[in-house]
Amino acid sequence: MRLDRRLVIVVVLGLMVGAAAALFSLPGLRERLSTASGPIASVGKAQVGGPFSLVDPAGRKVTDKDFLGRYMLVYFGFTFCPDVCPTGLQVMASALDQLGPKADRIAPLFITLDPERDTPQQMGEYVKAFHPRILGLTGTSAEIAEVARAYRVYFKKVTDEKSTAGYTVDHTSIMYVMDTKGEFVAHFTHATAVDAIVSRLQKLL
Ligand code: NI
Repeated sequence: MRLDRRLVIVVVLGLMVGAAAALFSLPGLRERLSTASGPIASVGKAQVGGPFSLVDPAGRKVTDKDFLGRYMLVYFGFTFCPDVCPTGLQVMASALDQLGPKADRIAPLFITLDPERDTPQQMGEYVKAFHPRILGLTGTSAEIAEVARAYRVYFKKVTDEKSTAGYTVDHTSIMYVMDTKGEFVAHFTHATAVDAIVSRLQKLL
């Protein structure tokens, strides 16, 4: 009798834990899936962005505080990316050019998701081929993981036999606009038309 009751309690507790786990894991899974593929439908102000500490091509420490007072255009990727990142950076560069002098109020950042290969020097060399004003930032694996988490960027190292390093990085391709206080304003992707980005930014600047 006593044993039976204990068994019932264990089973009921088990079911409750299982149900709770299912409830919690579902939204998490859905969120991961939505951030992995292009535009996000619901990005709240408080949900995207936050403090970061990274390194510029000259090896200097750079934090989010350095950009307060300017808008940030933040794009994540990596220099060995075969097509998406170059497209995104090209779009960013064209938008900056079309904005003209107004672009001075924007800090365009390219943050690597492959800190192993993307040294400060590599970032500098790569980014300057797109636009002289884009700042390439890298950091330790922990620093990159932290900034990616803050910006809700999904990335994952995956095996790639075609790459000399044996891997590539799957990642979200989102360009975030953050305001002068570092708060999220808008986002684009590498596939957003340059004109659309320019007109959105012109309204802000
Ligand atoms: Ni890429």
